[in-house]
Amino acid sequence: MKTIDRTRLQALMEREKTRFVTERPKSAALFERARKSLLGGVPMNWMAKWAGAFPPFVREARGAEFFDVDGHRYIDLCLGDTGAMTGHSPSATVSAVEQQARRGITLMLPSEDAIIVGEELQKRFRLPYWQFALTATDANRFSIRLARHITGRPKILVFNWCYHGTVDESFITLTEGRTQARRGNIGPPVDPTVTTTVVEFNDVSALDAALAKEDVACVLAEPAMTNVGIVLPNQGYHQALREITRKHGSLLIIDETHTICAGPGGDTRAENLDPDFIVFGKPIAGGVPGAAYGFTAEVARCILDKQNLEDCDTGGIGGTLAGNALSLAAMRATLQKVLTTEAFDRMIPMAGRWTNGVQKAIIDFGLPWNVTRLGCRAEYLFAPQTPKNGTQAHDAMDFELERFMHLYTMNRGILLTPFHNMALMSPVTSKEDIDQHTKVFREAAKELMG
Ligand SMILES: Cc1ncc(COP(=O)(O)O)c(C=O)c1O
Repeated sequence: MKTIDRTRLQALMEREKTRFVTERPKSAALFERARKSLLGGVPMNWMAKWAGAFPPFVREARGAEFFDVDGHRYIDLCLGDTGAMTGHSPSATVSAVEQQARRGITLMLPSEDAIIVGEELQKRFRLPYWQFALTATDANRFSIRLARHITGRPKILVFNWCYHGTVDESFITLTEGRTQARRGNIGPPVDPTVTTTVVEFNDVSALDAALAKEDVACVLAEPAMTNVGIVLPNQGYHQALREITRKHGSLLIIDETHTICAGPGGDTRAENLDPDFIVFGKPIAGGVPGAAYGFTAEVARCILDKQNLEDCDTGGIGGTLAGNALSLAAMRATLQKVLTTEAFDRMIPMAGRWTNGVQKAIIDFGLPWNVTRLGCRAEYLFAPQTPKNGTQAHDAMDFELERFMHLYTMNRGILLTPFHNMALMSPVTSKEDIDQHTKVFREAAKELMG
């Protein structure tokens, strides 16, 4: 297996940077204007991290593609980092939103759609009770609060290099046995080592030892890690995770926000998991803000037993706009008409096609990389072996190489998911889109390997 020549990589990167800027004068002008009213010229701090000198400004998106203001078309394999896994503006969601927008957007009162969505989620995930939030971050935060409330324990446990949104407790890392706040953590309210225990994914004995202290209210876990590359669970890991959490009295929150890519009931149904809570956000309403969290009858009973009517509108679980009529109408349409079993039957083989194309190029060009797939999501990592835990996946990250691959593909009309190398399939992603990626990936590999 060969290595990447860094001098060649830097020369190629300079060429791609120049091409990106030269071909996007309108985005460049908008970026200059944006710098006068938006911090760093972007609406969200992390948008500054896109691989070019500025992000392409979007004119319009539909289905699996979008166009920037300079008229370039992009095959969208990022899909708003799963927020648009449905494809952009799916017609069923759009017409539900159009109709609901004319009939009231937010009321602080329930609509029948809330029940229909709750019933649909019950069927998909086999958890009986559901509540709503506007983001998956909030759904995670609310589930954690409930777990602490029910168990009376102070801590949570997460896996090293996880990501669950901007959940304060989760910005912690483990390096050679030492836990510390994750690099880049902005103004943490408390040091996360006070609130959080962290172990490596797939390490059963570390999990058992950590939970044995019996101070952990809940484990917050993706069923497979998806934010540091894809890290799949070892055979039997989930069974061990469930047994150990039960043995030590910790609740289990499964965050399906990304792993919904595994099928209509996420990885929970695909792998027959048995959590106490499930969180599902991002694409649940076709890109309209909305998220849901579900829990068992036992959890519901504990919440109600401890609830005092006079105080139930305080306590850190809230959101004036959560459960609003518009997002519930969008969720109903998206679940019933867009993220269907038939859609997954199209999306998952498409990710298989993408993976096979990348895998073949890795072999043909001797790249020291590997590729992993979970349902309709796939990702390559800059290491020869598939990772078994967050540290191995994180060690394979290569900022310079990653930026090159993103810029190279963007310059040729393909958007990958930053800030790793993930491709997501929507129900309308086509074989032609995938084959175009394979062609561009092979060209990049050929240029890189010389
Ligand atoms: C697994 C997982 N959970 C939760 C979130 C948070 O989602 P949001 O940013 O929409 O709140 C993310 C975001 O990337 C995620 O990857």
